[in-house]
Amino acid sequence: MKMNFRIISSIAIAAVTTLLFGSCSADPDSAGFEYMPDMYRSPAIEPYVDYGELRGRENKEVKLVQSAMTPPANTIPYYGTNQEEVSLMLPYKRKATEAFEKTHGMFGAEFSDEDEYALAAADANALKLTEENSESILKNGKRLFNSKCAHCHGEKGDGNGPMVESGVYAGVPDYANLKELSDGQMFYSIYYGKGAMGAHSSIINKKEIWTIVHYIRQIQDENYGTADAEIMSDTEVSDSTTIEQ
Ligand code: HEC
Repeated sequence: MKMNFRIISSIAIAAVTTLLFGSCSADPDSAGFEYMPDMYRSPAIEPYVDYGELRGRENKEVKLVQSAMTPPANTIPYYGTNQEEVSLMLPYKRKATEAFEKTHGMFGAEFSDEDEYALAAADANALKLTEENSESILKNGKRLFNSKCAHCHGEKGDGNGPMVESGVYAGVPDYANLKELSDGQMFYSIYYGKGAMGAHSSIINKKEIWTIVHYIRQIQDENYGTADAEIMSDTEVSDSTTIEQ
């Protein structure tokens, strides 16, 4: 009985040792033998990264190469059949300023010879405030602003966010001095960037930008968006079909 136990345990030790060493590989990038490869690597086609491996067969050419195609220019996200939502997501009609190509990462963007920033002054906020939606839009705008903008602009919009207070960054305006700035130009600057502010078009979508523009207006005027605010009658539009981007 004792003898049997010894034999069995030596065989077991030998087997475990063989398995352990056998799973090593000379390739420093290799994880070694994978006992359950389907758990580490999905056998299904992955949209964003191709492991270039299917059940042990490796294809070095596609390994770690993005497999998802870049959508064609001017592709818009699917927004169902709600015309208002779809209009908000149509490609922005204002082109980037050529000087932004290198400074604001607008490589491959379409440029125009005209002063698009000046033209943008004519664009009204495409997201109309109504008595029903103003509370939720402004609340959403606050959330977006505090997470994407307040580190520079400050939660009060006075240009003294933590980035500025820390001394590493300067030149952020106080919104109180930008009351004359049009909604359309605000949108343009947020979308493409301006001066030391980067472009935000890849971080927030057009609806979110218009939402934040409403919130900036509220920072500038605490009555903005309330039923008795004068500005509400300016922006209120009953017919949603007039919305254009
Ligand atoms: C890295 C710091 C930084 C961040 C982040 C930032 N801004 Fe700015 N912003 C600036 C600076 C600097 C200016 C002044 C640009 C100029 O006039 O040269 C500015 C200017 C502006 C202006 C005035 C534009 C004009 O046309 O005069 C608006 C509006 C604005 N920012 C909104 C936003 C919003 C909304 C966000 C978040 C989505 C944001 N900013 C994020 C630094 C920042």
